[in-house]
Parts: sequence; structure tokens; C-alpha cells
Amino acid sequence: MSGSALRYSRITGTGSMLPARRVTNADLAEQLADRGIETSDDWIVERTGIRARHFADASQSASDLALDASRHALEAAGRKAAEVDLIIVATSTPDMVFPSTATILQHKLGIAGCAAMDLQAVCSGFVYALAVADAMIRTGSARCALVVGAEVFSRILDFSDRTTCVLFGDGAGAVVLEASATPGILASDLHADGSHRDILCTPGTVSGGAVLGNPLLRMDGPAVFKLAVRVLEESARAVLAKAGRTDADIDWLIPHQANIRIMQGTAKKLRLPMDKLIVTVDEHGNTSAASIPLALDVAVRSGRVKAGDTVMLEGVGGGFTWGAVLLDL
Ligand code: ACO
Repeated sequence: MSGSALRYSRITGTGSMLPARRVTNADLAEQLADRGIETSDDWIVERTGIRARHFADASQSASDLALDASRHALEAAGRKAAEVDLIIVATSTPDMVFPSTATILQHKLGIAGCAAMDLQAVCSGFVYALAVADAMIRTGSARCALVVGAEVFSRILDFSDRTTCVLFGDGAGAVVLEASATPGILASDLHADGSHRDILCTPGTVSGGAVLGNPLLRMDGPAVFKLAVRVLEESARAVLAKAGRTDADIDWLIPHQANIRIMQGTAKKLRLPMDKLIVTVDEHGNTSAASIPLALDVAVRSGRVKAGDTVMLEGVGGGFTWGAVLLDL
């Protein structure tokens, strides 16, 4: 088929990677108790829906997790790394200040020459990255993109703050997005509002050979909660309108996996039964930019989400950033 007939982009393979170390709420409660901090499995499950998360070991970086997820996605798509002409890695926990984790991933994949860049939109990063890759494929500047979300949030958690350290985990998810004669990605909707930057941030920075400011994540949980439910509804409606679809067309909603109560609030506003939501927060915790591609891969490999299904992906996170992508798988 000629390049000009390939006007759309379509996901042709998914993959993911979770570090081997699984930490249950009880494990975490025990570790925090050693520091004189009280928490419990009951509190974490009731307020968040999280039962366990995975933490990378000291030798594993975001690019290592990204590499495994990417290999699985390429295998599922039937593609070789050499066929990839664009790599976008969404991450807030990059291997280094620079170069980008995407270029490190490219080298670990054994390829060189194709475009590679990181995208920083925190927990909305994967939705942003997918929208950018879709746009590049539609304009003809890429044909076979590797779009990855990879995080090692355990590195930036403050384990003396029980209000945040119980929420996050590490992992990576990836998709292969290819030029296609049929959609694929139907529409995307992206937003940001930097006036909310202080409610969820890791404000430290590197300067003069030292870290200046707090390099650990801090969050105003209730403020994030309220904002997240509102913008997720707005973005879901906007992307449906752009695609000329309605909420009745959604086979599956895969929201950012931050908190089961945020997901329940979103489902209620969209009049979607909970059994149309893919939920992995119970086993993964919040893996930021990795959470949506991880959940997508789990859903595809378990056979729940199938080719032809209409899927809405929704992200929300620090910045504040938020957005949605509607696609036919
Ligand atoms: N264990 C036991 N008690 C705790 C814990 C804990 N881990 N954390 C907080 N508490 C206590 C608080 O100290 C407080 O005690 P107090 O009443 O004596 O002061 C009490 O529990 C209630 O605290 P709240 O913050 O009001 O609890 P809330 O019901 O709002 O739940 C939570 C907190 C889970 C953070 C919630 O606000 C939330 O989910 N917010 C959304 C934020 C989120 O999911 N962020 C993820 C990153 S953002 C993103 O990805 C979009």
C-alpha cells in the first residue's frame, strides 16, 4: 500500500514489565512501622483500592523496564526493533537529567538513527505520547512508533510520608503504533494548567553539583482527587465529541490507575458500569506514565480487550495535565 493511503495510526502490539519485587500493603506497613509510622492494609485498600505494588531493585532503571516492555510489544506486533522509526518514552523518573531515556532505550534495543525523545507530562505522559506519535504518523514523519511509559517512582517517594508513599509503584508499558489505512486512533484531547503545579510535584532540581530543594514527591491528595474527577469527565466528553461518538460506544475505559475511588467517580459521571473499566491499581499501585499501557497490556493479554473494541484511555497527573485518547483496537 502506498504511504499516502496510510492516513491513520493503529496499535499493533502491546507489552509490559513489572519488576519482580512485589510489596504488599502489609509489607509496607511493617517497613513504615520500623520508622514509627502507622498505616494498615485496611486503610490503604479502603481509601485507594491498592493491595500491592512492585518496586524495582537498585540496579534497574526506567530504561531497563522500558526495554522489556518494548520487546514484548514488538514481539506482539511482529516487528523487529530495526523497523521502528520513532521512540517516545513518557517518564518523570528518567535514567539521567540527559540524555533522554528514549535514546538510552534505543541503544539497548540495538538500533540507531531513528528519532527518540522523552515526554514529560507525569501521569498523563502516555496519553500525551500516544497523541504525539499519532500526529507524527498522520503527517507522514513516522510509520512505526514505539510509545512507552516507564517509571521508577520508588526512587522519588518520601517513605516518611504515609499519605504518599503507599500510593505508587514501578513498571513499564509499551505499544507499537503503526501507519494504517483505517483508524486506529479516532481522536485525542490534551490539556494542562500550570497554576496547579504545587498540588502534586517533586520540586527539587540539580544545580552546581547538588540537589536544590526537595527531591521527593509531595501531594495535596484531596485537592488532586477533586480536580482529577472533574477533568477526567470533561476530557472524556471532549474526545467523544471530536470522534463523533457517545459514551454508549465505549467498550472499555482504561483510566490512569491512581485510585479506585477516582475511577469509580469517573465511571459514574460517564454512566459506565464498573465492569467496563480495566482496573489494575489493586496490583500495580500508581505507576504514573506506565499505568495506562500496563493496564492495556494486561487487558489485551487476558483476552478481555480484543481487536475491534473501542477503548478510551484517560490520563491525569502533575502539572496539572490531563487528556484522553479514543481508539479502535
Ligand atoms: N495510613 C493511615 N492513615 C493515613 C494514611 C495512611 N497511609 N494516609 C493518610 N492517613 C490519614 C491522614 O493523616 C488523615 O488523618 P487525620 O484525619 O487524623 O488527619 C486521614 O487519614 C484522612 O486523610 P485524607 O488525606 O483526608 O484522606 P483521603 O480520604 O483524602 O485519602 C488519598 C487520601 C488516598 C491520598 C486521597 O486524597 C486520594 O486518593 N487523592 C488522589 C490523589 C492520588 O491518587 N494521587 C495519585 C497521584 S495523582 C495522579 O496520579 C493523578
